[in-house]
Amino acid sequence: MKKILIITIFTLFIISIIGGSAFSMTKKDKKAILLVAFGTSYKEARVSYDNIEKHVKSAFPDIEVRWAYTSNMIRKKILSRDKLYIPDPIVALSKLQDEGFTKVIVQSLHVIPGYEFEDLSNVVSTFGQLKSNKGRPDFKVLVLGKPIMYDEEATEEFIDALSPFIEENKDKAIVFMGHGTEHFANAAYSQLELLISERFKNVVIGTVEGYPDLDFVKEKLKEIGKRNVVIAPLMIVAGDHARNDMAGDEADSWKMQLKQEGYKVEPFIHGLGENDKVAEIFVKRIKENIGLLK
Ligand code: CO
Repeated sequence: MKKILIITIFTLFIISIIGGSAFSMTKKDKKAILLVAFGTSYKEARVSYDNIEKHVKSAFPDIEVRWAYTSNMIRKKILSRDKLYIPDPIVALSKLQDEGFTKVIVQSLHVIPGYEFEDLSNVVSTFGQLKSNKGRPDFKVLVLGKPIMYDEEATEEFIDALSPFIEENKDKAIVFMGHGTEHFANAAYSQLELLISERFKNVVIGTVEGYPDLDFVKEKLKEIGKRNVVIAPLMIVAGDHARNDMAGDEADSWKMQLKQEGYKVEPFIHGLGENDKVAEIFVKRIKENIGLLK
């Protein structure tokens, strides 16, 4: 009798599994990739985002690709100037959920896992915990893809992506200008500086708001000893920082300060997103999670 009961329970269990999977087979999951960037109000800088989007869409042609900007200031500026509404991650995720998307990869388009990434991570984990009981479908899968530099291996990959540009300019010194932050993740720039120096003797990493700073750059340029210097943004877009802090004509821009030191300075005003190999890093980050969307 006991045996029959166990078999019956087991059979019911099997039926419920089959029933469940049959149900999920008939109801297909709606899948999306949400690309999240700081944002830029420079129309010319958007080529970086467009290039990343092109790479992501061609790698994942069957998946909906959406955007969110984290900078409220930039979102407001674009809305009032271009009448273009770009959601922040909270609105974008809420809208995806409302439209019935159940499997979503959020991909950070950040260079380092600093404050921006941390905030995004909090938003994603909060949405992952939300449970609705009013018929709005919950996310079955909601994951966050890592930014460009998060460990040594990822940093080496990033250097691989930069190396064709470095090779092209091997007769010159190259200064990459990163953003920099008070966040501890700023240490990623120092790691990059150390690792890139092992491979290339003509490159120096600096940041606008962190360490290594412009003084560090100036010292290293003396060691490199080349009069021709290329300055390039180590940022996804060539926006305000690249056009003003780096290449502006005011006396305190990096270009003018290095000219002051006697260098011949050539600004390269293209964001990392325009580099196909960098765009492919983001595709790779998405691929790291794509199995979860199956
Ligand atoms: Co900034």
